[in-house]
Amino acid sequence: MAEALAISGLICSYGAVRVLHGVDLVLRKGEVLCLLGRNGAGKTTLLKAIMGLVPADAGSIRLGDRELTALPAHQVPKSGVAYVPQGRRLFAELTVAENIEIGLMARGTGKATRDAVLDLFPVLRERLGQRSGTLSGGEQQMLAMARALSIEPQVLLLDEPTEGLMPSMIDRIREAVAELRRRGVSTILVEQRVDAVLPVADRVAFIENGRNRETVEVAALRADPGMVRRYVGVG
Ligand SMILES: Nc1ncnc2c1ncn2[C@@H]1O[C@H](COP(=O)(O)OP(=O)(O)OP(=O)(O)O)[C@@H](O)[C@H]1O
Ligand SMILES: [Mg+2]
Repeated sequence: MAEALAISGLICSYGAVRVLHGVDLVLRKGEVLCLLGRNGAGKTTLLKAIMGLVPADAGSIRLGDRELTALPAHQVPKSGVAYVPQGRRLFAELTVAENIEIGLMARGTGKATRDAVLDLFPVLRERLGQRSGTLSGGEQQMLAMARALSIEPQVLLLDEPTEGLMPSMIDRIREAVAELRRRGVSTILVEQRVDAVLPVADRVAFIENGRNRETVEVAALRADPGMVRRYVGVG
């Protein structure tokens, strides 16, 4: 299957402390690939490295024939990679409409994109004039996803999008991920809980101590639930 993103031998550090020790990971076109791993395993760092927010000491991150590690961070979204960070990070003083506008401007997408994004999250359409800081947690997560999608990404990186949300909101986020998959977006999804990812993921990569220990099809995981316990300690 064609590759959307190919990471090999990726090494990243914060100052003198090495956090990623040679990560190899392939995101296939059109799949939802879930990253599971303990707190501090390096999942967020891996997403940041893809976005150019943490420099690579060595290794490669290829998007098609483009080498992302060679790009300045502001060029990565322009190449078609969108990122919804852990903890959302909206511009709290800006309205819903303004937050989405920032995404549209970043890549020069327009009204059709805006409409498509709002169709995915109709609740935002009712709140375009509301300051984003006053949205509920679930609404903020939807806006963070909407802003990311407004660049019309080929690749979407979601860092714990369901953290702290109630089950009905989790379902909506999950439906949005499934709908994006139908639209051909390739997604890397970081989640803590395996039961949250099994319904939407195609494959799961187990990140442990800054390495990808194993990437498995979801069907294989269902057949061997002990795998989750081995790498994540719960399950
Ligand atoms: N800015 C930073 N400076 C120094 N060390 C950092 C920084 N950000 C993360 N780290 C360290 O890097 C390691 C990996 O952190 P990371 O946030 O990537 O883990 P994670 O797998 O996303 O964990 P979690 O499940 O808790 O979100 C941790 O030991 C963390 O303390
Ligand atoms: Mg994290």
